[in-house]
Amino acid sequence: MSESIETILTLKDMETHFPIKKGVFKRTTGYVKAVDGVSLEVYRGETLALVGESGCGKTTLGKSILQLVKPTSGKIIYNDKTTERDLCRLSQKEMMEVNQKLQIVFQDPQSSLNPAFTIFGSLQDSLKAHGIKSKSERRKIIGDLLEAVNMRREQMDLYPHEFSGGQRQRIGIARALSIEPDLIVCDEAVSALDVSIQAQVLKLLKDIKEERNLTYIFITHDLSVVEYISDRVAVMYLGKIVELAEVEDLYASTMHPYTKALLSAIPVADLDRRKKRILLEGDVPSPVNPPSGCPFHPRCSQCQDICKTVVPELKRFETNGNEHYSACHFAEEQLSQ
Ligand SMILES: Nc1ncnc2c1ncn2[C@@H]1O[C@H](COP(=O)(O)OP(=O)(O)OP(=O)(O)O)[C@@H](O)[C@H]1O
Ligand SMILES: [Mg+2]
Repeated sequence: MSESIETILTLKDMETHFPIKKGVFKRTTGYVKAVDGVSLEVYRGETLALVGESGCGKTTLGKSILQLVKPTSGKIIYNDKTTERDLCRLSQKEMMEVNQKLQIVFQDPQSSLNPAFTIFGSLQDSLKAHGIKSKSERRKIIGDLLEAVNMRREQMDLYPHEFSGGQRQRIGIARALSIEPDLIVCDEAVSALDVSIQAQVLKLLKDIKEERNLTYIFITHDLSVVEYISDRVAVMYLGKIVELAEVEDLYASTMHPYTKALLSAIPVADLDRRKKRILLEGDVPSPVNPPSGCPFHPRCSQCQDICKTVVPELKRFETNGNEHYSACHFAEEQLSQ
């Protein structure tokens, strides 16, 4: 990360609630609180990992930032170096402009590539929309993009089914890069790949980020890849951020019992770094009726009375001179355990 820290995205009290509709009249009977009050800053040039168990709201948060899902409330301020704009309040025209700068790579690129089109056919649309009228120019750009993701230019004339999973993921990355984005949300971008291919794609993502000065929000439920790729990590639980820190500090100076449990589940070959396994009891509670107080309290081995009634704020601390946020009433006690 560069020395002077510039914020590219600022999320303020962001909520994305999905209505639950029941009965013949489709009355709203409740809400799935998928993202439930997230405030967060993303720094230009960093890779911010977003981790947490399945269903905690990672994808919804990523999609809400890109407005692929409309947030219910809150602000998402995008600083494109010249202006700051709230993405939740843009006109359609403004959103189209901004959309080119903010891209997403999904876990399964197959579902986002049209099987009836060649790679050139699939990738050229956004270039056309960007005003690149000459076909030969579009072919040149797409050829360059394929080479940037370690593929061959001629492969643009093949169809999605002619590629392996790892290659399709590279194509997904090439597509995200086609209009020189500023920020890419990688949603489980390597989770479906074999470990060896995963390592190659992770390295590719890292190299491309350096070359093109990108910012990543790297969503994953797999904590073992986080250490390699990220600068900072945000841990989500039931739609809220419960801990946020530099990656080294999150591992070495953990300040939330939930993070401790997640980290203890990573298989580590190095005996010195192996943590005592903390088994999380029970399932993740429903985001329709989250528990009172600290949402983690029913599964927390250190739960005290206050945890059952008072919602802990995400408070700022410092570890090793770096900012470190934790939403635990006993955050500092975690350091001495
Ligand atoms: N369109 C939707 N309508 C209703 N509920 C939704 C919708 N999308 C997601 N949800 C719910 O919101 C919650 C968060 O889902 P989300 O997909 O964001 O989780 P996730 O952390 O990405 O999980 P995973 O690791 O399995 O991908 C879940 O309870 C999910 O069922
Ligand atoms: Mg997801």
